[in-house]
Amino acid sequence: MRIRWDGGRVWDSGLGDFIEASVAYDTETGDIVAIGHPSAIRADEVRSIRGLCVLPGFVDVHVHLRDPGLTHKETLASGLQAAAAGGFTQVACMPNTKPPIARAEIAEDIIRRGREIGKAEVHPIACLTVDQEGEALADYEALARVGVLGFSDDGRGVQDGGLMRDALTKLAALGKPAMIHAEDESISRGGALHERAAARLGTTAQPGSAEAAMIARDILLAEETGAHLHVCHVSREASVALVRFGKSRGIRVTAEVTPHHLLLSERDIHRADANWKVNPPLASEEDRRACLAAFADGTLDVIATDHAPHHPDEKARGMDEAPFGMVGLEIAFALLYTGLVREGLVPMRRLVEAMSERPCRLFGLEGGQIRPGARADLVLVDLDRRWTIDPSAFYTKGRNTPFAGQSVVGKVVETIRAGRVIFREGEERLS
Ligand code: DOR
Repeated sequence: MRIRWDGGRVWDSGLGDFIEASVAYDTETGDIVAIGHPSAIRADEVRSIRGLCVLPGFVDVHVHLRDPGLTHKETLASGLQAAAAGGFTQVACMPNTKPPIARAEIAEDIIRRGREIGKAEVHPIACLTVDQEGEALADYEALARVGVLGFSDDGRGVQDGGLMRDALTKLAALGKPAMIHAEDESISRGGALHERAAARLGTTAQPGSAEAAMIARDILLAEETGAHLHVCHVSREASVALVRFGKSRGIRVTAEVTPHHLLLSERDIHRADANWKVNPPLASEEDRRACLAAFADGTLDVIATDHAPHHPDEKARGMDEAPFGMVGLEIAFALLYTGLVREGLVPMRRLVEAMSERPCRLFGLEGGQIRPGARADLVLVDLDRRWTIDPSAFYTKGRNTPFAGQSVVGKVVETIRAGRVIFREGEERLS
């Protein structure tokens, strides 16, 4: 069946702007069939979307879905519903589950269950080292065969440079990216917060060199091996400079930045509330500005939420003992639209590129663009609607966000993946 949406503003990926047009998609083929004047587009069903905008489905290459084994924090169902509610049509989930995604059967099971749930599409990311222990490489060939997006020990860095070199050599041959959590643990020593926030609040500090030192090492290794190195959650000015250096040398390095590292700094942490604890820690105002400038100019390629749900009891253990992480899927778009686009700091075309087009292009995924023939991965948003972030209304099981109570503009109303509705505002939570 062909469905046509009339009266809204549609993102034209070629133009990089909204146009006043109708868009039609086919629920059987799952593709966009036409964009243009309604009189020129035959349809079986017509719907008015007056006052709303259509964007290409968002794609997040870095989330934690906690399934298998940590389902008190999140399940595949709650995480993928939260993703769809945030406008994400595809997400890639990190392997720090229990057991970790180190075997092909575990990745296959996530893909199969994800399809059954029928919300956002899930792409597992597999371990770089067996069970993320940093001692031996995982079986990349077997994991690549079942279609993992890439390899990462996220939550931990690979401490042994020689082992990382071996990993990148193999991944270069396989054509799969290494998605690195850059943290030299001999420097970070498990520190909870940025140096200044730690001093202020009497907790342990994580020096910024812990991140930058490992990025420097891995960029040099990527140059030697020819592998695609994707740097996760860049947070410091020195790290930004290193990514820029790598790109300027023609090394295959890409990078992501989170909404929280673009919008918050250590200065915002006024009390020892572990909802502010995230790894890498919220950094200085200068670091935040460097990330923002690098995001605006495309050096930091994509937005990733690093959605990291935790149980409230775990977050209540105090700053030093609580686990790192913040949820992000349901608030990312509104936070960035409100804080960056409406403030005139970043144009809409860069945000759409970073949330939809570029992650698809860099990781070889379908979707990411609105044009005839492309997969109908669409988000319907109300760009005028103001709402207040209320964690108790989230679809994710996680409530851990420092953005609770914040007023934002821009609401996801409906999400379509391959021509099928995967989220409609107000729908019931999956169990
Ligand atoms: O804050 C974080 N939480 N950073 C990470 O790298 C891991 C994540 C988690 O798994 O909770």
